[in-house]
Amino acid sequence: MAASVPSRLGSPLCRNSHLLRWVEKVSDLTQPDHIHWVDGSADENQRLLDAMVRSGSLTRLNPELWPGCYYARTDAGDVARLEDRTFICSLSRDAAGPTNHWAEPYAMRGRLRQLFAGCMRGRTLYVLPFSLGPLASPFSRIGVQLTDSPYVVVSMRIMARIGREVFAEIDKNTRRVVACLHSLGAPLAPGQADVAWPSNPEKYIVHFPESREIWSYGSGYGGNALLSKKCFGLRLASTMARDEGWMAEHMLILGVEDPQGEKTYVAAAFPSACGKTNFAMLIPPPGFAGWKVWTVGDDIAWMKPDPQGQLRGLNPETGFFGVAPGTSARTNPNAMAALSRNTIFTNVALTPDGGVWWEGMTPEPPAECLDWRGQTWTPALARATGARAAHPNARFTAPASQCPTMDPDWQSPAGVPISAIIFGGRRAATLPLVYQAFNWSSGVYAGATMGSETTAAAAGALGRVRRDPMAMLPFCGYHMGDYFRHWLKMQRALRLTPKIFHVNWFRQDAQGRYLWPGFSENMRVLQWIVDRVHGRTLAHETAIGWMPRYEEINWSGLDYSRERFNELQAVDRSAWRSEVISHEELFIDLHDHLPPEMIYERELLICRL
Ligand code: OXD
Ligand code: MN
Repeated sequence: MAASVPSRLGSPLCRNSHLLRWVEKVSDLTQPDHIHWVDGSADENQRLLDAMVRSGSLTRLNPELWPGCYYARTDAGDVARLEDRTFICSLSRDAAGPTNHWAEPYAMRGRLRQLFAGCMRGRTLYVLPFSLGPLASPFSRIGVQLTDSPYVVVSMRIMARIGREVFAEIDKNTRRVVACLHSLGAPLAPGQADVAWPSNPEKYIVHFPESREIWSYGSGYGGNALLSKKCFGLRLASTMARDEGWMAEHMLILGVEDPQGEKTYVAAAFPSACGKTNFAMLIPPPGFAGWKVWTVGDDIAWMKPDPQGQLRGLNPETGFFGVAPGTSARTNPNAMAALSRNTIFTNVALTPDGGVWWEGMTPEPPAECLDWRGQTWTPALARATGARAAHPNARFTAPASQCPTMDPDWQSPAGVPISAIIFGGRRAATLPLVYQAFNWSSGVYAGATMGSETTAAAAGALGRVRRDPMAMLPFCGYHMGDYFRHWLKMQRALRLTPKIFHVNWFRQDAQGRYLWPGFSENMRVLQWIVDRVHGRTLAHETAIGWMPRYEEINWSGLDYSRERFNELQAVDRSAWRSEVISHEELFIDLHDHLPPEMIYERELLICRL
């Protein structure tokens, strides 16, 4: 075998003939100058970082202040995930459903082949093997990303398990490997100088669920280019999970330890801009002596029933790709500790002392810095023009192992037992702080109908509720109606069904002021949830579910009146009737795949109202 490896394949670290053939085919198509097999070592990583600093695509931050940290500034047209350019190319349009963009797979392959032809000229093709989940875990899934972006290689080294040990696993030829092909779409002619952030105005992020392939073209930005994350970890994994009887969810996982040392694990789904990373790293307020919150993951949960019927959850990633603006020592000291070293920052601002800054990081902004486009930024300029120093979607890519609250079992191959599932959104009205669904199917209904108000940062009308079922609208790789059916079906494999809750940290009073302080005070809600799981506290029945009374919440250390709590928890029947009518919007789109349970749950809710 070794003798037959064509020399242009470089020095393969893997002898798997399928992989070698695929790399050869891709290299024939894309025509890279070199092929580099990624071993995942610290030396290799440093060489790639140094080369990117030399070429101007990364800036090394001041090692005294930010040891091991680097800074990237993207092209202004490559700053976010691109839902409009994201396709699920299942064999039938019906399988992708109305909430996904679909294109005919044969035609799409043809278009992609045209785009990829010669697209890596003048660049290196990196063969990057990765495992989602520890290799030894029954949850783990393997992929190989072929990419011409060294930024992707160094970022994936933080976000997933990569390198030699994954090649060794592929060599055994016992596991199905997901083929992930990525190009910046920016070939270099001989002698042509490179730009700091190569990309292409034409972008495609394409998933072929049946053949378990991902093709991404034109973008170097995280969610479009780190294919282990949203593309594999959620979109493809959700279809694999449906076929294989598990769940791939856009959820954080945390463990709540009570003063007696008992730990209860909770998974929670929130749409973007609802504080998911902050919740995953919550520090209990001073009145909660002896309580501790442990972090398992902040973005993706793979969950599977064990042979005893207990749902177990695993964070398949090893890093955080978090939104920087708003992250501070006050809002999330654990995230700040995680990103204090060995982190790659993208589109934040650069300070004159070789550090980074973003809006909300410190109470006082720096007197001057370079904004995410490289222009001089000052607080006076910001006041006059509204210019932001950091892009609103500026990111940190930080190793999870550096977060002080990582759970001792966060990498356990068996995952952790999940006792509760929380759904939540950003809602100014109608949705109370917390309620518990009556049972699994009413909980699935709560998740299926969850929504969030569009914020000023998002395009579209302000305050409009966007339905985002289970926070999976952009990430479900198949028909949403079938996804609800899969959720309902999962109950049959569970002996101990996790309790399902809905929370809303964002309810406002008549004057538009938040009723709930949020952040660490969310621990009070978490304690009630954990106590409910263990049957240690009461709740009263309402039209929408079980709710705590004032006396069932631990108020230690917080002066919060009964009247305010009642306002926060009020179920306004007429507002709820409008709410239920608006659930119809999504259900109409999904009608031909909608499981009957969703209709029954809606009818029952209407009757109770
Ligand atoms: C993310 C997202 O980047 O949900 O995690 O968009
Ligand atoms: Mn996410």
